[in-house]
Amino acid sequence: MAARSVIPPAAPAPPAESDNFEIELELLLEGIYRKYQHDFRGYSRASLRRRLSQALRDFGFETLSQLQDRMFRDPALFTRMFQYLTVQVSEMFRDPSYFRAIREQVAPVLKTYPSLKVWVAGCSSGEELWSLAILFAEEGLHERTTFYATDINPAALAEARAGVYDVGRVRGFNRNYLAAGGRHSLGDYYHAAYGKAKFDASLITRAVFADHSLATDSVFQEAQLISCRNVLIYFDRGLQDRALGLFRDALVRHGFLGLGSKETLQFSSHAEAFEPVVAADRLYRKR
Ligand SMILES: C[S@@+](CC[C@H](N)C(=O)[O-])C[C@H]1O[C@@H](n2cnc3c(N)ncnc32)[C@H](O)[C@@H]1O
Repeated sequence: MAARSVIPPAAPAPPAESDNFEIELELLLEGIYRKYQHDFRGYSRASLRRRLSQALRDFGFETLSQLQDRMFRDPALFTRMFQYLTVQVSEMFRDPSYFRAIREQVAPVLKTYPSLKVWVAGCSSGEELWSLAILFAEEGLHERTTFYATDINPAALAEARAGVYDVGRVRGFNRNYLAAGGRHSLGDYYHAAYGKAKFDASLITRAVFADHSLATDSVFQEAQLISCRNVLIYFDRGLQDRALGLFRDALVRHGFLGLGSKETLQFSSHAEAFEPVVAADRLYRKR
């Protein structure tokens, strides 16, 4: 008979703090999904780690478990967490060559359609939407176009609808606008007062704003152009593929897709469904 050991098996070493953070991060994302039906599980971890560490400092929690506990009981805290779970950086006519390519390569084709639907996915506070609305007005496409501006962040959607930006940012917007081939002065499109620039609401009379998640929702409209810039960069490969599949399904045949300057179709399982229009500006067309 084998002798019984009198030495109890060593208890597993407690995880180091950084291991705890990783475990709690996965639990937090799973918890958010179950509790609030927002799915951040397919978001790139490097960026989430940084932003959630910042949330801990800002809210004064020591661990993600403490944050999760409070967030489960306080939906208002979850709403505030959108500012950490998502990145809201944007500017008008960001990457001017992209908007110039839309003006020169896409608008002439869009002019052949009697009516147009444009989906701005992940529109944030609306700078991309307003840029396209101005460009479409200058190209004579305004009357026939409905814009669908979607995002998961309710505060950002409200800002997008309002079209009000700090006047200090407008100088940079104007530089981009001119570099993008703007035909007038950006000043023609807004009124400045009390340190704010309010863009002319008539530019977006036919815009529809909607809460739509590229992670969980399905296609809701057929579109001739989808502009989804600087959103996929925060997704892992699987979620990028999901979103690109939605875009493929939503686009009409030969419809256009624009991505951000650091985003590409290259590694996607949907790459074959598209061909480049201006590869350098991440502008593609559905085959
Ligand atoms: C960096 S901003 C990009 C803003 C704008 N497209 C641009 O390029 O200037 C990223 C936006 O994607 C949104 N977003 C993040 N996850 C999303 C999802 N699953 N579905 C839709 N939008 C999402 C965020 O709320 C944020 O407004």
